[in-house]
Amino acid sequence: MNKLSAGLLTLTAASACALPVVAEISPQRMADAIYAVIESDRAVYTKKVVNRLQNEEEVITADEHWQDEQALPLPAQMLRMGAEGVAEKDLGVTYALMSTWPINKQNEAVTEIEKKGMEFIMANPSKRFYSEEVLGGEKYFTAIYQDIAVSEACVTCHNEHQDSPKDDFKLGDVMGGVVLRIKLD
Ligand code: HEC
Repeated sequence: MNKLSAGLLTLTAASACALPVVAEISPQRMADAIYAVIESDRAVYTKKVVNRLQNEEEVITADEHWQDEQALPLPAQMLRMGAEGVAEKDLGVTYALMSTWPINKQNEAVTEIEKKGMEFIMANPSKRFYSEEVLGGEKYFTAIYQDIAVSEACVTCHNEHQDSPKDDFKLGDVMGGVVLRIKLD
């Protein structure tokens, strides 16, 4: 290879790198990927922080009034605080916890799609629910995933909570759902 053609090769490679990437990711794949992060963080916090320090080592409790009580935030509060941080970034991505047996009545399904999705994921524990909906004039891709009792801490806290309408949750049960929305252009 002479000097000129070697130079040309380099040039071609360099301009190829600068080309815009045209690969697209579907809203469903994006939703699934974001959910994988949410689910993983939620399980790690519940198992490695709440369950370990509250249920096993008994050094600190998790409490709704964690700021006043010098306690740990509940897993649901951790998820909500994270979701609020994401919402502030205005990326068109929102997520929240929901349940058919909510401790906090504000966590009940509200929209038609949420109600349909919750029914679907409860009836089909191994399948996810995907749909589209229009809210406030904007179109959204909406996914609903099962929220599973991954730790004893989930079960004991909900079963013993005075505002919980259900007191017989077991490890591995579907305790509710996570609704995740992505704004479509
Ligand atoms: C120490 C107590 C505690 C632990 C541990 C806990 N929760 Fe909760 N959870 C609550 C409370 C209280 C709420 C309502 C809080 C709110 O909305 O501000 C809640 C909210 C929820 C909701 C929304 C519906 C509702 O009940 O209001 C779901 C679903 C849920 N938790 C599932 C789980 C799962 C699954 C785990 C384990 C990964 C878990 N929780 C761990 C106390 C707990």
